[in-house]
Amino acid sequence: MSINVLICFYSKTGNTYKLAKAIKEGCEEVPGVNVKLSKAKELASIEKIEKDPEWLEAYKEMQDIPDVTVQDVKDCNALIIGSPTRFGNMAAPLKEFLDRLGGVWMRGELINKVGACFTSSESEHEGKEATLLSMMLYLLAQGMIVVGLPQNTPGLGQYGSYYGATATFAPKDEDKVIARALGKRVAQLALQLSGDKND
Ligand SMILES: Cc1cc2nc3c(=O)[nH]c(=O)nc-3n(C[C@H](O)[C@H](O)[C@H](O)COP(=O)(O)O)c2cc1C
Repeated sequence: MSINVLICFYSKTGNTYKLAKAIKEGCEEVPGVNVKLSKAKELASIEKIEKDPEWLEAYKEMQDIPDVTVQDVKDCNALIIGSPTRFGNMAAPLKEFLDRLGGVWMRGELINKVGACFTSSESEHEGKEATLLSMMLYLLAQGMIVVGLPQNTPGLGQYGSYYGATATFAPKDEDKVIARALGKRVAQLALQLSGDKND
């Protein structure tokens, strides 16, 4: 038996993408777990992106990552969402996708599935946790079982958050350790909820 974990993120300059990859590695530590990395569709025009070399480079780096679909969400046993911190909230492309999940919500297709969040910001204290909480509102409204990181997670005192994985700009190695711990935790819990024990 295997389960599907969907990681859905938006990233403009690649920092949140790097966190997403570390979370994927953590999920993959758990046998029986398929992980799909997907991105929220870019809303900006290619003309605008081409005017910003940093944005263009990251855009090209991520172009092989498929845009997330509503079907991906229906097919998953766990959903992990990530966004850059934007004024203490998620970025518009991720919200645009989450706003398309009304049918999923009405049919209760995410109820009792495991959810978690991650974010990258520019500063240590300008909205990371608010952004994680803003994303959690969506998961809770969908009836998901939202998980963060317990206080005994190694390194949590300095990196990450109770509420999810974080980084200031690109993730440092310590942030990636926390991100992997989050991915592994979500995968293990999703597997346990699906009826398969794995320790
Ligand atoms: C419109 C906008 C708003 C932002 N607001 C914040 C903010 O409130 N706090 C913060 O620390 N960083 C803020 N940032 C910086 C990004 O969160 C940061 O650069 C992040 O690492 C970008 O992630 P990405 O490379 O995945 O796009 C903002 C960036 C933009 C473009």
